[in-house]
Amino acid sequence: MDISLEKVEYRYQANTPFERLAIADVSIHIPSGTYLALIGHTGSGKSTVLQHLNALLQPTEGTVKIGDYQIKSHQKNKNLKPVRKKVGIVFQFPEHQLFEETVEKDIMFGPMNFGVSEAEAKERARVSLTQVGLEEDILEKSPFDLSGGQMRRVAIAGVLAMDPDVIVLDEPTAGLDPRGRKEIMDMFYSLHKERQLSTILVTHSMEDAARYADQIVIMQQGRVAKQGTPEEIFSSPEDLLKMGLDVPDVVRFQLNLEKRTGRKLGKICLTIDELAASVAEMVSGGVRP
Ligand SMILES: Nc1ncnc2c1ncn2[C@@H]1O[C@H](COP(=O)(O)OP(=O)(O)OP(=O)(O)O)[C@@H](O)[C@H]1O
Ligand SMILES: [Mg+2]
Repeated sequence: MDISLEKVEYRYQANTPFERLAIADVSIHIPSGTYLALIGHTGSGKSTVLQHLNALLQPTEGTVKIGDYQIKSHQKNKNLKPVRKKVGIVFQFPEHQLFEETVEKDIMFGPMNFGVSEAEAKERARVSLTQVGLEEDILEKSPFDLSGGQMRRVAIAGVLAMDPDVIVLDEPTAGLDPRGRKEIMDMFYSLHKERQLSTILVTHSMEDAARYADQIVIMQQGRVAKQGTPEEIFSSPEDLLKMGLDVPDVVRFQLNLEKRTGRKLGKICLTIDELAASVAEMVSGGVRP
């Protein structure tokens, strides 16, 4: 399912004394099956953009296209339930939204709300719990008796159980330990690959953006400052540094090495493996047998 934002503007509390322009002139095209990372400083408008992707917010100017649905400013957009079913959002700290007596009921809530039968919802709860790496015996427990990391996974399972075509992730690993972060990011990446799930990730981690995304959009003060493939974005690191943003460690190492040796590696490397191969080539090219 393709998604497009066309010249989207959003003002919180429009037409009140508290009106606040959050994003302006945002155009982003997300073809079906893309993994897109959205990066930018705090307050740059990332979460506001995300909430347009399933029509939780509707633009005050411009158009949002989600599959066959068009959501335009200045008009009543009805029947958005099918859109919300297709686009699952994992909010920051999604565990704060757990509320049912048992994990099973919590995961079943979304699908049942969208008309899935009880038996089918139960089956989905079991499958999605396994997908997020939890054991089935957790189903009968209260979500509030779980660890923070387990609660996060249950909340994610609740979104997966809706069987969305698009998954939207607002810093899904904030506050988790490094191992939990990697497990969850790898899980989203395999879902993306196996089910061709379009994935839109807000992250402060340049490492994750470089490792997982096909496309990167950089937001600055409510506008799109730059968009492109990770190779395009990270091959002019000066732009990022000027915006006060970081580059991945692997890119930082390459820049430092190139400065010290006065030699270029030929291409920008985004993984340790690529970097090792390029450095090996450089070294072997420099040493005569
Ligand atoms: N509910 C709201 N009411 C009024 N203004 C808001 C509201 N939510 C966000 N804003 C404002 O809109 C702008 C964009 O906020 P947004 O939450 O989209 O940024 P963000 O990039 O997600 O930041 P962070 O990295 O801190 O999550 C900010 O200036 C913020 O103060
Ligand atoms: Mg945010």
